[in-house]
Amino acid sequence: MSDDIKKQIRALLITHNAVLLAHNYMRDEVQEIADITGDSLALSIEASKTAADVIVFCGVHFMAESAAILSPDKKVLLPRADAGCPMADMVTPKELEELRSRHPGVPVVTYVNSSAEVKAHSDICCTSANALTVVRSLKEEELIFVPDRNLGRWIATFVPEKKFIFWEGFCPTHERMTQAAVAQKKAEHPDALFICHPESAPNVTALADYVCSTSGMYDYCRTSPAKKFIVGTEAGILYKLRLDSPDKEFILASPALFCPNMKLTSLEDILLSLQTLSPVVTVPEDIRLRAKGSLDRMLAIPRD
Ligand code: 13P
Ligand code: SF4
Repeated sequence: MSDDIKKQIRALLITHNAVLLAHNYMRDEVQEIADITGDSLALSIEASKTAADVIVFCGVHFMAESAAILSPDKKVLLPRADAGCPMADMVTPKELEELRSRHPGVPVVTYVNSSAEVKAHSDICCTSANALTVVRSLKEEELIFVPDRNLGRWIATFVPEKKFIFWEGFCPTHERMTQAAVAQKKAEHPDALFICHPESAPNVTALADYVCSTSGMYDYCRTSPAKKFIVGTEAGILYKLRLDSPDKEFILASPALFCPNMKLTSLEDILLSLQTLSPVVTVPEDIRLRAKGSLDRMLAIPRD
């Protein structure tokens, strides 16, 4: 059954000159049929340069919105229109403008896990993969960092010379991974390294051997001589970690590491989306142009 759906999806991708992009947290079967899987940064870059006419974005709404901002001449499909990101909803443009008005002249660095409108009210975007590089690229000593307090505070430890004004947003999935759960896994597996995403709470990153973006985890685990890893990010990451390094063992740090939104998209949803060429994600042109400025400034910075 699922093989048949996969064949139909592949055929429709060709018919529509479409590309299937999938975030590293998607269900295994969705990652399996994707043309490209990656972290938010890699997928934004791909969306900005693809020659396809249609982008099928298997991820959450802000990611598809970024694709629509960067590729206005393409049709961007988000197979599940209800796949959102609670963190992205934790700051509104009005709230951001209020904060800005209290700190005139201070640049706003916005994590891509945010709405197009919030990006439009920002100076530059960042992802978890390039946040430190973006912050270092700013000449100002003070900056406003929205919406992820955990990513912001983690980055701040590397740049003590900068003063941060944090927004108190967070990822509910990563915050459900408690320090006690990680400590227990470490006690059960003393020979394993602990890696986690910077969206994790500070008392969890404090226990980590390595903190990085989702794609950073693939590189780290592939090249590390270690054979066992406790993984502190959404469970979807395990699919490719195990594929990349079949001789290594990967243990999820907490059973709470499931993002309900990232798990919504099924093969059936993708097929229906390609059959109906919907739901389409669009961004009003005035917002798109300003949000694109923030994304373009980020993309212009060379990767580490
Ligand atoms: P990455 O930027 O590492 O892909 O993470 C995105 C995300 O939503 C993490 O929760
Ligand atoms: Fe948003 Fe967290 Fe889900 Fe990522 S894992 S999409 S930050 S809720």
